[in-house]
Amino acid sequence: MHHFHYVNGELYCEQVPVAAIAAAVGTPFYLYSTATLTHHFRVFDQAFADMPHLVCYAVKANSNLAILRLFINQGSGVDIVSGGELYRALQAGVDPGKVVYSGVGKRPEEIRFALEQGILMFNIESSQELVAIDQIAGEMGKQAGIALRVNPDVDPQTHPYISTGLKQNKFGINIEKSLSAYRTARDLPNLEIVGVACHIGSQLTQLSPFIETLGRLKELISRLRQEGIAIRYLDIGGGLGIQYHQEKPPHPLEYGQGIQKELAGLACTLILEPGRVLVGNAGILVTRVLYTKEGEEKFFIIVDAGMNDLSRPSLYGSFHGVQPVVEKPRREVKASLVGPICESGDFLAKDRLLPEFSAGELVAIMSAGAYGFSMSSNYNSRPRVPEILVHKDEFYVIRERETYETLIQGEHIPPFLQQEGKG
Ligand code: LLP
Repeated sequence: MHHFHYVNGELYCEQVPVAAIAAAVGTPFYLYSTATLTHHFRVFDQAFADMPHLVCYAVKANSNLAILRLFINQGSGVDIVSGGELYRALQAGVDPGKVVYSGVGKRPEEIRFALEQGILMFNIESSQELVAIDQIAGEMGKQAGIALRVNPDVDPQTHPYISTGLKQNKFGINIEKSLSAYRTARDLPNLEIVGVACHIGSQLTQLSPFIETLGRLKELISRLRQEGIAIRYLDIGGGLGIQYHQEKPPHPLEYGQGIQKELAGLACTLILEPGRVLVGNAGILVTRVLYTKEGEEKFFIIVDAGMNDLSRPSLYGSFHGVQPVVEKPRREVKASLVGPICESGDFLAKDRLLPEFSAGELVAIMSAGAYGFSMSSNYNSRPRVPEILVHKDEFYVIRERETYETLIQGEHIPPFLQQEGKG
């Protein structure tokens, strides 16, 4: 369910015509709906109402301060993977006691920052990281709450780049070896074991890999408990997929029921780290057609947004719906929707039947709320685009468009290059 809909042939976000926002802020821009974000959070959270649980929104999916605040206002915690994400979440007002810190490569200064703030737990991904966190916590006179992120070796059946729970992936500690890593952790003086963590991949469209994983996690938890290692939290990560095209992912309610049924009687607080399912379909990328051209063999629609703004199609071959902002009778054409970047991989839609657009028209790239802006870059020296949040009949610029000045911010020409003809 989302709040992008047509009224008399014009695309609206809640009660605001998308074209009016384009006229005010220019193109391209990301556009999010407050009602959709709120609804997605509520549905997801309520899907776990039968179990003590904490939703820790995965900041990486969309890290804008306003989006973080929106979820925090709903009671959300956060899943972070860097000091930068922690900083953002704190700025947005998160309760540090609701922060879980994942990621294979935490740096000492990031660990220190998180310990200073008193986060809930570190999801540790290697034995060396265990030792590093123990040492830093010791230096600071703190106890670090930890979970081990175990790798259950379950195939999530998703794109290889976003599959993380197979033994050949770099993530987590092999579940077979985790028992001995837990014993090591128990003997380290500055660590407090509080949980078990896992995340097997993203954009999962089936329930079965999650359930298979839970079976293995339950077994691990009971073995840990037999050894007197108390486990209070079970963090099962994120990964629930959304519909981009013809996928049929389980509804969050089905996901919640399946998980709670599997975990019945397990005396643990469940932690969930959803990203995409909360924000993916709550955002679109709005772009304008610059030109159309009949190539030798193909028809191209050239728009003002490129792979630097939305990299998912280029990176993963992902499908995003393409819709007109103003509807009119039009043919469908086999075409590619491409950006201005100097790479043949710069496409938002490739060789697809698309509505026929003409120069000057606005195009909505659908389902762009997750891993859209957060993965954007300045490649080809393109200022990053603004982000706009609609609330009912108002819209708010929640991130300004970058300027040429901000593009070169922090760059310096060293003195030896400043004299012409030298260097
Ligand atoms: N927790 C951990 C430890 C993660 O690594 C991730 C995502 C999540 C939670 C959130 O997963 P989600 O619920 O969003 O599936 N850039 C890719 C997705 C990469 C996901 C990385 N980890 C894409 O655009 O499809």
